[in-house]
Amino acid sequence: MFSSCLESKKEFTEVDLHLIPKPQTLELKTGTFSIDKNTAIYCEPGFKVASNFFLSFFMKGTGISLETASKENANFIIEKDSSLPKEGYSLNISEETITIKASDASGAFYGVQTMRQLLPPQLEGINSVQNESFELPQLMITDSPKFQYRGMHLDVGRHFFPKKFIKEYIANLALLKMNYFHWHLTEDQGWRIEIKKYPKLSSHAAYRDETLIGHYNETPQKFDGKQYGGFYTQEDIKEIVAFASTQNITIIPEIEMPGHAQAAVSAYPELGCSGEQIPVATSWGVFENIFCPNEATFTFLENVLNEVIELFPGEYIHIGGDEAPKRQWEDCDHCQKLIKDLNLKDEHGLQSYFIKRMEAYINDKGKNIIGWDEILEGGLAPNATVMSWRGTEGGIAAAKDKHNVIMTPTSHAYFDYYQAENVDEPLAIGGFLPLKKVYGFNPIPEELNADETQYVLGAQGNVWTEYMQTEDKVEYMAYPRMLAMSEVVWSGASENIDVDYSDFLVRLEPFMDRLNALEINYANHLYEIEGSIIKKEGAVFYELKTPTEGKEIFYSTNNSEQIKYASLVPISENTSISASVFKNGSKVGRPFDETIEFHKGLKASISLNIEPHKAYSAGGKEALINGIQGSDSRFGDKEWLGFWGDNLEIKINFAEETEINMVTLRFYDANGQWIYSPKQVTITSKPIKGKSVSCKRVLKSKEGESIVQVILPFDSIKTAGLTISVPNYGLIPTGLQGAGNKAWTFIDEIIIE
Ligand code: ACM
Ligand code: ZN
Repeated sequence: MFSSCLESKKEFTEVDLHLIPKPQTLELKTGTFSIDKNTAIYCEPGFKVASNFFLSFFMKGTGISLETASKENANFIIEKDSSLPKEGYSLNISEETITIKASDASGAFYGVQTMRQLLPPQLEGINSVQNESFELPQLMITDSPKFQYRGMHLDVGRHFFPKKFIKEYIANLALLKMNYFHWHLTEDQGWRIEIKKYPKLSSHAAYRDETLIGHYNETPQKFDGKQYGGFYTQEDIKEIVAFASTQNITIIPEIEMPGHAQAAVSAYPELGCSGEQIPVATSWGVFENIFCPNEATFTFLENVLNEVIELFPGEYIHIGGDEAPKRQWEDCDHCQKLIKDLNLKDEHGLQSYFIKRMEAYINDKGKNIIGWDEILEGGLAPNATVMSWRGTEGGIAAAKDKHNVIMTPTSHAYFDYYQAENVDEPLAIGGFLPLKKVYGFNPIPEELNADETQYVLGAQGNVWTEYMQTEDKVEYMAYPRMLAMSEVVWSGASENIDVDYSDFLVRLEPFMDRLNALEINYANHLYEIEGSIIKKEGAVFYELKTPTEGKEIFYSTNNSEQIKYASLVPISENTSISASVFKNGSKVGRPFDETIEFHKGLKASISLNIEPHKAYSAGGKEALINGIQGSDSRFGDKEWLGFWGDNLEIKINFAEETEINMVTLRFYDANGQWIYSPKQVTITSKPIKGKSVSCKRVLKSKEGESIVQVILPFDSIKTAGLTISVPNYGLIPTGLQGAGNKAWTFIDEIIIE
């Protein structure tokens, strides 16, 4: 029973309010408003989505059915105020009255969502609170979103999630004041939407024979031998669309073309270039079996879209456009003839023709298209909105070209990446995207001027489900990163990440009670420890931090007795550190361990010829000589630096001449993510008696291994410094993922012995 603790609370302080996303302004007053069975609601007729939401939320959580009343007799008023910004609201809670004002129905809805978050989290459960009245703090909030597009994506192609889960996912977007759900409905591994005209899409393309077990990079690959699949009937979709409208959420259906089409081509082989029967894909990655731009395909896609457009009332249809290898088009007589007949430059021109033709069809039906940033290649369709995923570069190019853009870069918006460095994190696709990095995302790239920024509509978190077989796993990956993204797109990008992120965590920790009440299987990495090497006046120290306030850290070094952490720990030898976080005297979170290799680089200084890519520079150049190796499975952690396409030259300078016997370099190798170790490296010493000593090594990557390590021996030379030359791998070869693009170089610790 929750009632005793809830009833006694009469005075609120700032820390009792943990609104996410954070409102633009909030003025807390003294005193409360009691909401109980006598509270009567008046709502502007056009804003009923807001009052209906509140009535049903309150009824479900408390069993109390609130009355509606005329404006004169109501003490909870939701009314129009045209002076407020689009989607904005004001919420005034006084002793006698609650007033929400908004200029549109969305704003009224968001006012109600704020009310919801001011009520106890237990109300999120069903009939779980027995109180007769609830205290709300007297306050004044004025609030509006920074971005008009605030979205989350879910891939139901790789794994299928039932209708009930989709509704919950949508409802949780509403809680966070997001407004778009991007529903990725078709994939190589399964077509998930019933199309009446093409029944084999449901009977055939919705099912695959088996599924890859473990990570794609594991060799040999293993499969489970079990048929897998599912699809949404049109009745399911209507039900979900209707539900979404009660949550103020617009659904964007994605029907992929011309790539990620293997399931559809499997059901209807005439849609492919060869006409051959192929299976629905059972593994992950990018497949060459794409739609052939023949008339059968265009008729098929137009018929599919006719039904899709009928089902989804929103403005946008997402047509995919990403990752369409052109190999089959290169070998197809029809495709080659079409390139000639249409006077196109190449296969990219043909993809552009494909997308433009589909755009014209969709525009004709009164809808607009969104496509992944590959739709820029070969020329952008006239009215297309670009979803920038391979970084922000595509978004920048599109905005400069006066096209609308939604930012979803892998570096900050891919919630299928790992969120913690722990070795026991559940299997993920790769990468590393911790909560703080999401929180620090700025959807507006600095490359855009004030005029161009208007084309950035907002941002979105993407949830690709290759490695998410269950609803629990989706929630683990999506939360709490989705909360951080909601604050980026609603409250705006942080201008002072350390201050703002701490403030976010102060709200997130208690917000987890609401996630618990909603039975969301969120990841909790709040009670973990972050360690870093600090160099001061020629000495080396280790710092331990935990992100939330009011906790204690206990630690030991090299298996000594645990002591309470109070100040920086001096480091002067190889050191292993173990530590734990305590909350109110009890251990919370997971234990922390780090090994520091006290090599000669720790007392050196470092410079680089180029800056690391800003998405992969968390630890700065110092990370290369801090005694700590990067993770073998998370190239995005703060020990790895990423460089895109450039040749790298690193200069190490010692404070005094130092004897060098051996230098070890480590590179990340994950070709699926476009990351390639260099083909060779060279290290040259500063001149010793007028002559430099040089050592060159050719590198070999081993299949299935993410790290390429190379040792360069020196014969006990004494030198004042080293120059390390790391040429970029070059362009990614044909036939591989990302072919033709520049390869990334990722380097971590330079171990100098
Ligand atoms: C994508 O991640 N292929 C858009
Ligand atoms: Zn073809």
